[in-house]
Amino acid sequence: MTYETLLVERHDAVTLVTLNRPKALNALNSQVLAELLAVTAAYDADPGQRCLLLTGSDKAFAAGADIKEMEAMGFAAAYAGNFFAGWEQFTRTRKPMIAAVAGYALGGGCELAMMCDFILAADTARFGQPEIKLGVGPGMGGSQRLTRAVGKAKAMEMCLTGRMIDAEEAERAGLVARIVPAAALREEALKTAALVAAMPPLAAIANKEMVNAAFETGLAQGLAYERRLFHGLCATEDKAEGMSAFVEKRAGHYTGR
Ligand code: CAA
Repeated sequence: MTYETLLVERHDAVTLVTLNRPKALNALNSQVLAELLAVTAAYDADPGQRCLLLTGSDKAFAAGADIKEMEAMGFAAAYAGNFFAGWEQFTRTRKPMIAAVAGYALGGGCELAMMCDFILAADTARFGQPEIKLGVGPGMGGSQRLTRAVGKAKAMEMCLTGRMIDAEEAERAGLVARIVPAAALREEALKTAALVAAMPPLAAIANKEMVNAAFETGLAQGLAYERRLFHGLCATEDKAEGMSAFVEKRAGHYTGR
């Protein structure tokens, strides 16, 4: 399949997706959403692909939802069309997804990065939820995911003032996993994605589900869920292989069974 707003490349078991609307700083319009959903569906369905890496340009991961697309949209159209609800499908991708962010990740761009499982940031990255300046607020999860990531004080300040935070502040606040020099971002992110892709694939899905459960459940329920997934993984061939490989001091070879 060919895409107009994305570049999609395979690097062995890593699907590298680059947002590609340079003239609009990768603003997220309906076409970007539709194409991302097609890519993630194909990725989830392909047993040979084990990690998805989402990135943008040096200047912008994405500067937000497409303001030009939303400018004429009133309440009736937004409500009837359940505008933005399609992004929930993106978050239902079962296999790992990493965001590699350089430059602006604003509004929907910050929200899209947060929909991925973790964020690697170039030292040029800037995150913000400036929607208030447009008379709205976050609509793709920013008020919820940002608050869970950085806490109420910083999330509230960012949403109420539109202030951007740089990579250092984002790392200190727990929004990003790691900062990388901008020139090394792509290579470092591909290396990290390859590391994830080399993991036992069922365990990768289960680890993602466990961590995500921490945001959806109370502690006792989350711990019980984690244990059940652990018990289930004990039935996999990859668990037998992983533990034998450790004991025999060799690399494991995982099949996803
Ligand atoms: N939507 C549509 N077009 C956008 C855009 C957006 N979010 N962000 C940038 N662009 C376009 C600009 O209109 C401009 O296009 P033209 O050349 O046709 O005029 C082009 O990208 C380059 O942008 P600038 O000239 O503004 O570039 P700059 O370097 O001077 O500024 C910027 C960069 C600070 C990121 C600035 O573009 C900006 O403030 N963008 C909007 C950021 C924003 O408000 N994002 C939130 C959107 S709402 C949202 O995301 C809702 C939600 O919760 C999902």
